Amino acid sequence: MVRISAQIIGLFDILLTRERKRHIFAVKDFALKLAAINKVNPFKVEIAALSHDLFRDVPPNKLLKLAELWEVDVNDEERVHPVLLHGKVAAEFVRRRFGINDASVLIAISHHTSSHPDFDEIGKIITIADTIGYDRDFDDIEKLRKIAIDDLEEGYLVVLANRIKYYIETRRFVLENTVKSWNKIVERRLAK
Ligand SMILES: [Fe+2]
Ligand SMILES: [Fe+2]
Repeated sequence: MVRISAQIIGLFDILLTRERKRHIFAVKDFALKLAAINKVNPFKVEIAALSHDLFRDVPPNKLLKLAELWEVDVNDEERVHPVLLHGKVAAEFVRRRFGINDASVLIAISHHTSSHPDFDEIGKIITIADTIGYDRDFDDIEKLRKIAIDDLEEGYLVVLANRIKYYIETRRFVLENTVKSWNKIVERRLAK
């Protein structure tokens, strides 16, 4: 696993801008902190964090071509906005190139943009670290980090709520899996 991390980092200079590399390392650092607190496998979290935006700087038309070439399932939202495919393409790439078959890692990479109702701790950690990792800065971010550090579930809920609020305020599309992920959290809380 350690060797795979080094190999993924070895691809950064070919695929990523400087700014994106900085983002990915910041996501990794916060994700590893959350993994340690919650006793989640750090190697899996590190691979998911390092891979999540590996294809984020690839142009949309190329992402669509790669998805077709690697037989990645493309939904209607992704066909209209191929940038949304960067997670799924990255997951398929690390599966093929490094033989990563861990379902939690693959779903975390694939669906980090929208989140997914089937996320376990790894997916939740990546979603949180992607949004409030050490490279991000906005009002109340320290408060959000503290919530996530104290309670992963609560941190995930707050991050998703903020994301949905932001999409609505900026009149953006709310992705289907984001809505499903939110409803899953609410359902679980109601069942308690
Ligand atoms: Fe991303
Ligand atoms: Fe990211």
